[in-house]
Amino acid sequence: MPHTAQPHAPRIYGDIGLYAGNSAPELAQEISDYLGVPLSGRDLLKFPNDNIFCKLHSSARGKDVYVIQTTSAPSSDNIMELLIMLQTLKLDSVGRLTAVTPYLAYARSDKKDQPRVPISARLIADMIEVAGADRYITLDLHAGQIQGFFSIPGDVLTAFHMLSDHFLERKADMHEPVVVSADLGYAKKGRNFAAKLQVPMAFVEKRRTGPDTEAMSVIGDVDGHDVIIVDDEIDTGGSIVQACNILRQSGARDVYVSCVHPVLSDPATERLRSLDIREIIATNTVPVPPEKRLPNLTILSIAPLLAEVILRAHEGRSVGAMFNE
Ligand code: R5P
Repeated sequence: MPHTAQPHAPRIYGDIGLYAGNSAPELAQEISDYLGVPLSGRDLLKFPNDNIFCKLHSSARGKDVYVIQTTSAPSSDNIMELLIMLQTLKLDSVGRLTAVTPYLAYARSDKKDQPRVPISARLIADMIEVAGADRYITLDLHAGQIQGFFSIPGDVLTAFHMLSDHFLERKADMHEPVVVSADLGYAKKGRNFAAKLQVPMAFVEKRRTGPDTEAMSVIGDVDGHDVIIVDDEIDTGGSIVQACNILRQSGARDVYVSCVHPVLSDPATERLRSLDIREIIATNTVPVPPEKRLPNLTILSIAPLLAEVILRAHEGRSVGAMFNE
């Protein structure tokens, strides 16, 4: 039978195949709408014994497949769904398989910082590879070196441009803003944030003073300034509460918060509600249920960014060029 490949349109892989797990259906649909590629059908269910099952509705053989599954809570279920979908697709002989995990679970477990503990982020990377992924796409890893836990290539994207652009638009309404890194681990990204906004930078420093006690101080001048606290994620909200308190004691005026991943584990919503924060900006790497959508919370969608990167990966075009890199 003659083949139908078009010599003037060289293609390495077949068409894009988009699959979504159950963790972020709205984000997956937005990506699908942006690309004009429908989400492919699959059954993805749990048996009465709690085991997860996946069945594709049609063949994905030869396709360039992207599995969209964020791994926020319930993280064990979401991780297992991702792994089982990856293996199902691999066994269906896809051309290339990419795991798209906007939020990568266990990223905070990235080193042995005390005896007899795991490095779970490494385990997650290994499992994604073993399940059959050829590539991965993720956003704002808790620590850049987690990239080294993967031996497959990946695109580690950042919401930095989107978040900082938002504050650039707001800057004229703020009073002499200062960017504050709530965590020294985020200091470098905080510095980029401040540079983009062309404003000064300050740091909240936490020091352990005993087995259960911490002292906090502010490095830099926030007295009489509006502050933008930047961090990679809000989990229980404890860090934001501490940062807000010490910043206010140091004379800060209005407080704004920017974070990539709104994990919002309990009691984060109640903690954030009790703070007088002007605006909290986050992205939809983690879906926020209606009961956690505070009036001062603005969610920016990363769907256009992910969709554009998927398109470029499919066509073999530079992703760095999107950011003039
Ligand atoms: C810590 O290293 C991270 O950058 C965040 O500061 C942390 O994940 C926030 O956690 P929580 O909201 O529970 O204080």
